[in-house]
Amino acid sequence: MKRYTITAALPYTNGPIHIGHLSGVYIPADIYARYLRLCGREVIFICGSDEHGVAISIKASKETTTPKSIIDKYDKIIRKSFESFGISFDNYSRTSRQIHYDTASEFFQKLNSSKKFIEMTSDQLFDDTSKKFLADRFVTGTCPICSYKDAYGDQCEKCGSSLNAIDLGNPKSTLSGEKPILKKTKHWYLPLNKYEDFIRGWILDKHKEDWKTNVYGQVKSWIEEGLKPRAVTRDLNWGIPVPIKEAKGKVLYVWFDAPIGYISSTKEWALENKKNWEDYWKNDETELVHFIGKDNIVFHCIIFPSMLRAHGGYILPKNVPANEFLNLEGEKISTSKNWAVWIHEYLEDFPDKEDVMRYVLVANMPETKDSDFTWKDFQAKNNNELVAIYGNYVNRVIVLINKYYMGEVPTPEILTKEDEKTIKSIKLARDKIGLTIEKFRFRESNSEMINIARIGNKYLADNEPWKKIKNEPERTKTILFVSIQIVSALAYLSEPFLPFTSLKLKGILRINKQIKWNEILNNNIIKSGHQINGGSFLFEKIEDGEIHSQYQKLEKTKK
Ligand code: MF3
Ligand code: ZN
Repeated sequence: MKRYTITAALPYTNGPIHIGHLSGVYIPADIYARYLRLCGREVIFICGSDEHGVAISIKASKETTTPKSIIDKYDKIIRKSFESFGISFDNYSRTSRQIHYDTASEFFQKLNSSKKFIEMTSDQLFDDTSKKFLADRFVTGTCPICSYKDAYGDQCEKCGSSLNAIDLGNPKSTLSGEKPILKKTKHWYLPLNKYEDFIRGWILDKHKEDWKTNVYGQVKSWIEEGLKPRAVTRDLNWGIPVPIKEAKGKVLYVWFDAPIGYISSTKEWALENKKNWEDYWKNDETELVHFIGKDNIVFHCIIFPSMLRAHGGYILPKNVPANEFLNLEGEKISTSKNWAVWIHEYLEDFPDKEDVMRYVLVANMPETKDSDFTWKDFQAKNNNELVAIYGNYVNRVIVLINKYYMGEVPTPEILTKEDEKTIKSIKLARDKIGLTIEKFRFRESNSEMINIARIGNKYLADNEPWKKIKNEPERTKTILFVSIQIVSALAYLSEPFLPFTSLKLKGILRINKQIKWNEILNNNIIKSGHQINGGSFLFEKIEDGEIHSQYQKLEKTKK
């Protein structure tokens, strides 16, 4: 049987998460996972905190505390943000846990003992003031590819290239601000150059059609530039110790251990649920899908697959639907400049409006190019779409059924051709939502979802049951019977996008049966005589004042 292992990039625990994270990675992954579950497929949705790496050491020294207290602090905040937003992980682990240390160490040992690494002693950047080797984010300099001035030692955030610190122009230590000196040290390298043919044959030859063009294009340009051996160990004091004697004092490179975190998180889940983790990673019938942002493409399409290949026995991702970036009010989201909408703050400012943010973030998802979040648009989408279309439709139907029939779903006559046509169009929308989700076109699927309420509103406007209740009582019953079926279909079909609203609506309708996605509305969802609850507003208007205070909050960060 076909199974899905869905992963979402493990967030670094060096700060809270913002709307860019949600819209780029976690919401699309959640929609995908929820949808597949609703189709009755077997799914695990895996994530966890990425707790190593230089970013965390830097944050710790800024806050004059230890990496351990930093990761504990942010793991908690991030975990809670995901939970509050209904991101339906089956497991959310941490790379600081023992199970991950064991898994990552074993993985390294296996590659080491099967001679997959090359060992090299070479000159590396060293900060003579703070007596530290300068790997990754401990050093910035000019990108050898695009000449961006502030590239990190392992990656250029401008052009996305993955770099070696030694290749930076004008390197500068982020610890002391000094120019580093060169010092010899030994490291273990994965010879990526030996995997070029493998990547070419697997991605470039086979996935031109079904992978996103932004992803395919990046992989192609790396392969064309030629891959180089990449160090998977570091001279740092925060990380997983390299599990061999001669590497004392060295740790695994964070990008070596972190993706293995998907595997250890799966193991943790399997232990708790009495499953076999290997079914999710070593079985050809399992589809592995990695949800990530564009800065993670090289790691998920080249480095991690090469590691899996070197190890042997693992499946490769079926797709890596990376998104581009979300901007905020026309500017790049920046943690250091505090130019962001933080999830934990949003939850305080807009309690019970998780679905509103989910909706707006999907509607603006940076699927093919960078996109923009603005508070004005947030307000407009809430007021003009969620309130005026979805909420309004549901409310009208529920109010009418309560008013005319005391909440008891009426018995219809034979449906007219027009009635049948309306129902058919909802089923078409259902199929289109499914199809577009499976193709990772979430914006389209989301607008198809809201379109269902539009169809419902039009059906009401065309049929005007309120004008017929006196003279055509039987026809009125039919119209409202059809309408309540559409409302119920909406309750099911909006679940991947608006899980809280879906649940609330099912409560109002007093329905809870499981219906497989492709069977929704094949039969009537609600029977005649079924008692529903009274109306309640699913969404409320957002006033100018609330938006204004968000603008003020952003203004403050500019001072
Ligand atoms: N922590 C990384 C980031 O935020 C993502 C790690 S993804 C994993 O960019 F594959 F390494 F887990
Ligand atoms: Zn660059």
